[in-house]
Amino acid sequence: MLPDVPDVRLAHTADLGADTLGAARALLHEVFAGDLDETDWEHALGGMHALAFDDGELVGHAAVVQRRLLHGGRALRCGYVEGVGVRPDRQRRGLGTALMAALGRILRGAYDLGALGATDEAVRLYEAGGWRRWEGPLSALTPAGVVATPDAAGAVYVLELAVPLDRAGELMCDWRDGDVW
Ligand SMILES: CC(C)(COP(=O)(O)OP(=O)(O)OC[C@H]1O[C@@H](n2cnc3c(N)ncnc32)[C@H](O)[C@@H]1OP(=O)(O)O)[C@@H](O)C(=O)NCCC(=O)NCCS
Repeated sequence: MLPDVPDVRLAHTADLGADTLGAARALLHEVFAGDLDETDWEHALGGMHALAFDDGELVGHAAVVQRRLLHGGRALRCGYVEGVGVRPDRQRRGLGTALMAALGRILRGAYDLGALGATDEAVRLYEAGGWRRWEGPLSALTPAGVVATPDAAGAVYVLELAVPLDRAGELMCDWRDGDVW
């Protein structure tokens, strides 16, 4: 018998079409049980999506978008992971791991580092994939200048790729509406 290989596809936002985008948004609303606002959804748009299907139905989603993260005197090209969710009845079957593996190829091939803001529930998944918690001070480059973001402490994870990172050092993100990390 063949192993149960998840059906994971990769596509840019521009190629998804309204139906698939609507299904992804509805899935994330279900997964985050009402704790997903419009800016959270918007943060997942404009890059590449990994989509897990079961019998043609969307059951998992993750996306990577480009941001600039300032670290060590450089504006690093970051693949920022957003909108990671697996439908509750399909969790703990390897779909989250498969979605992150699909994004991993994009991260390794296109970015200086990966970064994301993790929920407590997802930490084990990310750590198993080589992601590590940022230990140093976090801030954002806002329209009003540099603002410390201590609320994000402990929740930002990075995937070290082409550029060596000092995880005890400072990390600053670019500006966006909603949650900056
Ligand atoms: C976090 C999340 C995406 C993980 O998705 P998932 O599909 O359950 O992930 P996986 O199945 O790959 O791995 C989860 C666990 O199941 C285990 N697992 C994987 N396949 C398994 C199988 N066939 N049988 C039993 N366990 C299995 C993994 O080893 C892992 O175990 P661990 O937590 O003890 O390390 C999912 O729980 C989710 O959507 N959570 C709510 C939204 C959320 O928090 N998203 C993250 C935002 S940052």
